[in-house]
Amino acid sequence: MQKTIIDPSVVKNIIKEVGIEHVGKASIRELVRVVNLIEQKTGIKFVRMEMGVPGLKPSEIGVNAEIEALKRGVASQYPMIEGIEPLKYEISRFCKLFLDIDVKPETCIPTVGSMMGAMACFMVANRTDHNKKGTLFIDPGFPVQKQQCHVLGHEYKSFDVYNFRGEKLREKLESYLRDGETSTLLYSNPNNPSWINFTEEELRIIGEMSKKYDVTIIEDLAYFGMDFRTDKSIPGVPPFQPTVAKYTDNYILLISSSKAFSYAGQRVGMMVVSDTLFNRRYPDLKRYYATDRFGYSMIYGAIYALSSGTSHSAQYGLAAMLKAANDGDFNFVKEVREYGEKAKIMKDLFTSNGFQIVYDYDMDVPIADGFYFTISYPGFSGVDLVEELLYYGISAISLDITGSERSEGLRACVSHVPREQFPELEARLNRFKESHFVN
Ligand SMILES: Cc1ncc(COP(=O)(O)O)c(C=O)c1O
Repeated sequence: MQKTIIDPSVVKNIIKEVGIEHVGKASIRELVRVVNLIEQKTGIKFVRMEMGVPGLKPSEIGVNAEIEALKRGVASQYPMIEGIEPLKYEISRFCKLFLDIDVKPETCIPTVGSMMGAMACFMVANRTDHNKKGTLFIDPGFPVQKQQCHVLGHEYKSFDVYNFRGEKLREKLESYLRDGETSTLLYSNPNNPSWINFTEEELRIIGEMSKKYDVTIIEDLAYFGMDFRTDKSIPGVPPFQPTVAKYTDNYILLISSSKAFSYAGQRVGMMVVSDTLFNRRYPDLKRYYATDRFGYSMIYGAIYALSSGTSHSAQYGLAAMLKAANDGDFNFVKEVREYGEKAKIMKDLFTSNGFQIVYDYDMDVPIADGFYFTISYPGFSGVDLVEELLYYGISAISLDITGSERSEGLRACVSHVPREQFPELEARLNRFKESHFVN
């Protein structure tokens, strides 16, 4: 006898109305819509874990700097496409102090979120050589980046990294890169959705592969500093956020402000191109851009065409937050530690009710507690589990859409589950377990 929280027929009807065949295969935003409609119809508040939105307030430092900039009148002026000087300077300092790498302000470019940063990367780095075809994604990953390749008409390949950690990564990467057709390699670190963190050894291997096959690495640092197992929050003091930039000079870093600085709404992120890549010339770029220079094509080709730069006031907001972080006046990592603390409790609630953690180990240690964790339940595929959990007022996305080979799993995001909701989550999971008894 099932004791659901929500009548399954209500859920099924809404899925049908929205026009989705399998809700478990829906995109994140589609699932958001379905859950909104179920909440509206039933008045029952969900435990919402489907979307990776920050659940914390933005820093006042950023907000106040934006207000001041707006009062000064920046709203009426186009910002320079390559970014305002104070922001470029603070990004470069940030890279030195939190990544321990040297990049010139010239090669630090604001973007309309890392989302636009990735799009611009594909538009330039996937067009440097007419013999090459596209991107290799180290999965599981963030589905929209593949959509970006798709809409640009670029080819892409991907593999699930879980069984290819450590030295095994080398042969796996070579098997894809050997044919010389790959322009770019992209991964996020910490990884969305599995929360795997690459080791220095793995980053070294990626760097070596980048040099051997002349592949540009796009390192997506959307969760900068958020592997909370070590404290990376003190400027200029190790440990630093690990980065491939230590092992190759053919890289672009995408540093989002959305999660680390809780600044998702302002759509401002950072693209950091290595000095060498920025100044490199690729004759094939002239097929699309006025010049063969990589950095110039990125700014005055891709970013100009995409948005003519990044919101003026948001740049001032980010510059102020970075300055405070660089000066040691604002511990941005401490602000977001709450996610890791919540993840620990939420993982316990799930596992004590029969769920399993899918990506459970990071090399030979248990996976860290962070912004996401992954779950499965015996007897369910991930796609079916998404719908079944909706009957219990819990929403999460299937790992299926992230390129994961662990099709039994779901990704759960901790950010939008307030601690006050934990007892309700526990009660709903209890009910789920009672209805789906496993020995
Ligand atoms: C891995 C990854 N990359 C990029 C982004 C997008 O970042 P932004 O909000 O800066 O566009 C996200 C957001 O969820 C993400 O998880």
